[in-house]
Amino acid sequence: MCGIAGYIGPRQAAPVLLEALKKLEYRGYDSAGIALIEDGHIQVRKARGRLQHLMDITSGGMETPGHVGIGHTRWATHGEPSDRNSHPHLSNDERFAVVHNGIIENFRQLKEMLISRGYHFHSDTDSEVISNLMQEYDQGSLVETLAAAAVHLEGSYALGVLSLDEPGAIAALRKDSPLIIGRGEGENYLVSDIPAIISHTRDVYLLEDGEIALMTDSEVSFFDAYGAPIGKKVFHVDWDVSAAEKGGFEHFMMKEIMEQPQALQETIRPRIKDGRIDLSELGLEGGWLKALHTIHIVACGSAYHAGRLGKNLIEMSARIPVTVEIASEFRYSDPILQPDHLVILVSQSGETADSIAALREAKRQGVKTLAIVNVLGSTIAREADHVLYTWAGPEIAVATTKAYTAQVAALVLFSGYIAQERGSAYAPRLNILAEALLKLPEVARQVLDDHSRVQYLASLFFNHRDIYFIGRGIDYSLSLEGSLKLKEISYIHSEAQPAGELKHGTISLIQPGTLVIALATQKKLRDKMLSNIQEVRARGAVVLSIAARGDKEIAAVSDHFIGIPPLSDELEPILAVMPLQLFAYYVAALNGNDVDKPRNLAKSVTVE
Ligand code: G6P
Repeated sequence: MCGIAGYIGPRQAAPVLLEALKKLEYRGYDSAGIALIEDGHIQVRKARGRLQHLMDITSGGMETPGHVGIGHTRWATHGEPSDRNSHPHLSNDERFAVVHNGIIENFRQLKEMLISRGYHFHSDTDSEVISNLMQEYDQGSLVETLAAAAVHLEGSYALGVLSLDEPGAIAALRKDSPLIIGRGEGENYLVSDIPAIISHTRDVYLLEDGEIALMTDSEVSFFDAYGAPIGKKVFHVDWDVSAAEKGGFEHFMMKEIMEQPQALQETIRPRIKDGRIDLSELGLEGGWLKALHTIHIVACGSAYHAGRLGKNLIEMSARIPVTVEIASEFRYSDPILQPDHLVILVSQSGETADSIAALREAKRQGVKTLAIVNVLGSTIAREADHVLYTWAGPEIAVATTKAYTAQVAALVLFSGYIAQERGSAYAPRLNILAEALLKLPEVARQVLDDHSRVQYLASLFFNHRDIYFIGRGIDYSLSLEGSLKLKEISYIHSEAQPAGELKHGTISLIQPGTLVIALATQKKLRDKMLSNIQEVRARGAVVLSIAARGDKEIAAVSDHFIGIPPLSDELEPILAVMPLQLFAYYVAALNGNDVDKPRNLAKSVTVE
């Protein structure tokens, strides 16, 4: 959601900024812009629409001179996507230029105050107040001016700022929205996400809330919110640059779907030792785990769906009650938390605004927190008491696939680990689970190898207007993810229903020809699913079932069937989500949609 780029160094800045913004496109945006300092003035070029449009009108940045610049891709929150609402925004005296990610919650009051002091506004954005606040509270030094302006801001912000009075510098400030500084040789970078600069440098600084950075071409200095100097450690990024490139696939999403065996391997393998699940890395003390009374899993989007599977698994194996809540609801629900509770935040990015707020609420109440996170050094990873990393590698497509399956794998590991540590009745099955976990990446590969069958099925249904998913228990949690994946990228209306609940309302929408995708991977519930499949077929539905390979009865009552190789009840859901991801992908591609950057969506939702 919104991308920030900044460059200062010997090269022409505009092409570097556009290249970095291109790599941030996956975050989601609807307009783009750049600002460069050149010959005593700030030149701004910005345009609504795809970044390619801005590239075309600036000849890839070549027409915009200058060695110091900031850039932005905007995902509209205040004011429609338009040229004038695009960033960067200039102050009235055109001495300051600002790019902003986040939301300034008190912008109306600030705007009124600035208007009363004679300022004019050229956009409908909340962000434009910031450049004018900088003019209003100019202290003669960029860092001090930024600190003075920020005192007035409420909300979330990552800012990149240029000032004509310090033409050899870029200032940056963060609060509740990620910002990273890349340290180069005689040049420095500012970005909102690491993949945007990984081809230039692997040495980065992760800005913390309230910290200000001042970059020149040769130096980066850091200050606290009051402008006092502070020290900061370099963080070295060690993942492979090819991980953030398409590697011959048409879309990142397909590449990431196919990378799932590796993501599972990396997440699982180091945590199985001598046939036992070993999560001693978490530092959760055995006595505390034994006394653990309730777990609250909190997340957004697909991570919430992974959390629902986590509930199914933890309750089954460790017999601890688990609640699962959407972070934006949890944070305002005045949650009832006790010292013997654990709050688990699940997040790919570790930067989702509502999940961060939920984590802070749990910490405010003094409850232990555990983060299941993919991005190293992200806000949630840094602030949680304990971290269980998913090792899915960078994920670029907006619709998550490999990060989701890695989250589910992490939750399987965690459920097994607490069952083991608490000596629950399930504990004797743990050896079998550990063995199955080790086989999971290979079996996942087999499932993905069958992608052309899913492609064929997608070709039968890609022009449907409504598609329903049904399942029970774990399969229901999985259905939610399958349905979300489909609607995110194909724009086809879709709903997931607990199969037994269908007849309490939604079945009225089933007509002859309606596609129902039925998940029946769990032995103990398959007979119930058999009946539910027949119920919808009796109303004319076309049924595509996903169940254990060789389940002839389910296959016989369905129009189409996808078989999942046998593994274990706990792990088959991880496998069954893969055909659903492939189905969503092929349906979206057949509809000619922009699969990696679906309309209106953002990869990392850094505003409420
Ligand atoms: C956005 C993404 C989803 C993701 C959700 C939560 O909506 O498009 O794919 O599941 O945010 O993101 P997180 O980074 O917290 O897992």
